[in-house]
Amino acid sequence: MDVTVKILGLSGSLRKDSAHCAVLRTIAEQLPPSVTLNLHELHDVPPYNEDLDGDATPSAVLALREAVRNADAVLIGSPEYNHGMSGVLKNALDWISRPHGKSTLTGKPVLTFTASPAFTGGVRAHQQLNETLVAIQAVQVVYPQIVIGNVGSKLKDGLLVDKAAISFLMDGVIRLVQRIYNWPTQETSRNCCVQVSSDFNPAI
Ligand SMILES: Cc1cc2nc3c(=O)[nH]c(=O)nc-3n(C[C@H](O)[C@H](O)[C@H](O)COP(=O)(O)O)c2cc1C
Repeated sequence: MDVTVKILGLSGSLRKDSAHCAVLRTIAEQLPPSVTLNLHELHDVPPYNEDLDGDATPSAVLALREAVRNADAVLIGSPEYNHGMSGVLKNALDWISRPHGKSTLTGKPVLTFTASPAFTGGVRAHQQLNETLVAIQAVQVVYPQIVIGNVGSKLKDGLLVDKAAISFLMDGVIRLVQRIYNWPTQETSRNCCVQVSSDFNPAI
């Protein structure tokens, strides 16, 4: 049986030339045809307001929740702003987290990354993002934190071009796909994953 894996991409940056969007675009280009990665933009998601979270839920929020529901897994990138995760992303996750106990993200495999011009790569934002995902009870992929430092020097023409960073990222994405189907990961060595990222065909 051929399987198409649908990954939803969320970027905590609204910036036109966002490094996080560039990373998501790069991953999308590296994937085999049987795995899709679609970026869902957060520009129209309003500030969280519990008064609106019911009969009057904004359409952009309904669309966001639906996009998460329809995805097999979610890949999230957040900038670090003042040592914290992106407010845009936190806001989106707060909307996604509701209705309480029925979030479309609960139980869904998620992989996260941060990128920054600083050598620290947004690691503090990464930690906060992971905490929020724990609260929502998303299934975080077991993988070393993906933090991309000095990201400006690793981008070209709107794409990530640093081979080591791409390799590390794609290994994580493979883990994410494996998590969807509860495939074993013991044999997933770095070398194996680099190979898989170009030839991988999730047909089961
Ligand atoms: C308001 C503001 C605060 C920032 N604070 C941090 C920070 O605490 N740590 C860090 O590594 N980078 C910080 N940065 C730099 C961002 O990491 C950088 O702008 C990054 O490229 C944003 O992601 P993007 O390219 O996807 O838009 C800050 C940038 C802004 C605009």
